[in-house]
Amino acid sequence: MSCQPNDPPLRLDRSSTVPLTVQLSGGLREAMSGGLLRPGERLPSSRALAAQLGVSRTVVTEAFQQLYAEGWLDGRHGSGTYVAEHGALPSVSVPPNAPGTPAAPSDGPGAPAAEPRLSRAQARRLGMVDLRPGAPWVRSHDEAAWRRAWRHAASLPLDDDPDPRGLPRLREALAEHLRRTRGVRVGPENVLVTRGTGNGLDLLAATVLARDDRAGIEEPGYQRAHDVLASRGAEVVPCRVDHDGIVVDDLPFDLRLLYTTPAHQYPLGGRLPVPRRERLLSWARGRGALVVEDDYDAEFRYDVAPLPALYGMDPERVVLLGTLSKTLSPDLGIGWLVARPALLERVAETRCRLSDRTGVPAQAATALLLERGDLDRHLRRMRLEYARRRRTLIEHLGPHLTGDTAGLHVMLPLPAEAVARVVSETAGRGVLVEDTSRASHGEPTVHGLVLGYGAAHPADLRRACRILAEVVGREADGGQELR
Ligand SMILES: Cc1ncc(COP(=O)(O)O)c(C=O)c1O
Repeated sequence: MSCQPNDPPLRLDRSSTVPLTVQLSGGLREAMSGGLLRPGERLPSSRALAAQLGVSRTVVTEAFQQLYAEGWLDGRHGSGTYVAEHGALPSVSVPPNAPGTPAAPSDGPGAPAAEPRLSRAQARRLGMVDLRPGAPWVRSHDEAAWRRAWRHAASLPLDDDPDPRGLPRLREALAEHLRRTRGVRVGPENVLVTRGTGNGLDLLAATVLARDDRAGIEEPGYQRAHDVLASRGAEVVPCRVDHDGIVVDDLPFDLRLLYTTPAHQYPLGGRLPVPRRERLLSWARGRGALVVEDDYDAEFRYDVAPLPALYGMDPERVVLLGTLSKTLSPDLGIGWLVARPALLERVAETRCRLSDRTGVPAQAATALLLERGDLDRHLRRMRLEYARRRRTLIEHLGPHLTGDTAGLHVMLPLPAEAVARVVSETAGRGVLVEDTSRASHGEPTVHGLVLGYGAAHPADLRRACRILAEVVGREADGGQELR
């Protein structure tokens, strides 16, 4: 790593309508992707660069902030601003289980059977606060809009030959929604309506995978993705993630498909930086692999700039899966699969072959919610609602949390030997939390809790956070480092 600041050649055009901050971040991005600024090189200080370019320091700090958010820059080396070492970001791995500690429960193949789990309904009946991840808050939707959407769906004639790709009107509305919210260039020909992410992944696997094809998943990662791919006969290969997401340099060369969660890695919570996205796509092109982008959590992010969808960066190599399971409710059973038209048609053929479909009334109701802007309004409301809950968590557990810039879950790293104690002590006090090792497909390399803050009532969440802070704080007082 160089210690001397590198002065990249940058030119700003004051007569342009493009803001100076955008010009500057663009120039720096170009210098980094073109190799003029190399990983590990130090940038001039914001003061020096502002003086050199004759702009205010705010212009430079805002440009730096944007590039930090995108993962181009790194401030972790001590003082100064450096070009991120994309390939060499430290792993989140912490030492394995202490001797004598029983292996943590895991749902993975060949791993010990998972402990019996309370269902959400059982937990509710017992009056417990459920902070296990994966559930949204489903009690703040606009009831009038919801009823109007279903009245509309019920008023339509029944269809005796529904399109396997979905209701044309909903595909159009979803394409418009994705263009606007995810910045991807799609039309209805790119959209197939599914019943959710799991259904989309299953249909894709049934379309593109031959028996024993190797399919990569994240380790640790979303258990259902593992199960869906395995059930379609794939050899499922766990691929390492670090605090930013999938580690591209470690990917095996012979994957047919890679499932990944770049918007907010499940469960560690990383957001895949742009340079690593580019390297992932170039890996996929080189290997002829298909990247499956589970866009779950992309709708909710906090204090950070949006990152481009992988699909938008390479529609030939990427299939994007989205869902309303979290933004509205899993009850609705609506999601989408976005792909190039030729592949999409093959998925539609698979769907016919398997007699698989998404109910047309649910599609028609969703179409109206999108067309009237009801879903947008709901999303805006929920963003504020979830941001408040996230603040509650940060207020109580702030210094310990990671992966909190998006989605509805955060991670609380703990020493391996403390996890089971914390899980059982908090359960004894009426708070259910999830051990991250449940997301491991083999021997866990990451230890801690994954906390979902979507579904708990705000007052319950505050109470649960106080209990957690107390229990976790006691672990720290016991002389054990939390990270
Ligand atoms: C990583 C991830 N993707 C997707 C989903 C939602 O899947 P579906 O749309 O099948 O309900 C979840 C739900 O917990 C999830 O954790």
